Amino acid sequence: MVITIDGPAGSGKSTTAKLVAQKLGFKYLDTGATYRVVAVAVLKNNISPSNEQEVEKLVPELNIRFVDTKILLNDEDVSSQIRTEEIGKLASLCSTYKGVRENMVKLQRKIAQNQSIVCEGRDMGTVVFPNAEIKIYMDANVETRAKRRQKELSEKGISESFESIIESIKSRDTQDSTRKHSPLKIPDGAIVIDTTNLSIEEQATKIIEITKSIF
Ligand code: DC
Repeated sequence: MVITIDGPAGSGKSTTAKLVAQKLGFKYLDTGATYRVVAVAVLKNNISPSNEQEVEKLVPELNIRFVDTKILLNDEDVSSQIRTEEIGKLASLCSTYKGVRENMVKLQRKIAQNQSIVCEGRDMGTVVFPNAEIKIYMDANVETRAKRRQKELSEKGISESFESIIESIKSRDTQDSTRKHSPLKIPDGAIVIDTTNLSIEEQATKIIEITKSIF
């Protein structure tokens, strides 16, 4: 059984997806992490991220694996490296390339095969798992998403102005939702949850209730 959770950056989908998976005893797949690993690999190989052809040529050579809570690139643990703001932006750019998406979609479907799993990303319910039993789309207003991001950063000891975080979220929203291939949008049949005034616990409870009401 597959539960898909799509939504923009800062909508709360990662934390919620993890919690839902834990409470239901399901596996959890963070597909954004796979695009982030591509971005790390692009930098490690000194490829210009805007060179679509070179990036697309590199991707089939990469060995990307999830092991427990870690993500490995060619056996190197890159779990921390993928979490920077710079890598987030580069991942968003590389994810606009058709060849990159085709490879990541293949990888994501293979990981989810024969699993009870919560899959989180931007195109889970629209493209990767269109037949998922439950599709969720999470959203929140941009100020709330920026506040969450600022809190996350300050917990890591990074101070960034609210205005610059808003700008960075808006530009990522535009890139992710206007790209040609698999843009971020509400999947057909998805249940939309506005998380602006909800805690992570409340978001998870809602999704678990939806799951239990269907099965
Ligand atoms: O969720 P995230 O911030 O870790 O994702 C990083 C980027 O990867 C995001 O800006 C767009 C891309 N992405 C995607 O295109 N499709 C997905 N299913 C997940 C992420």
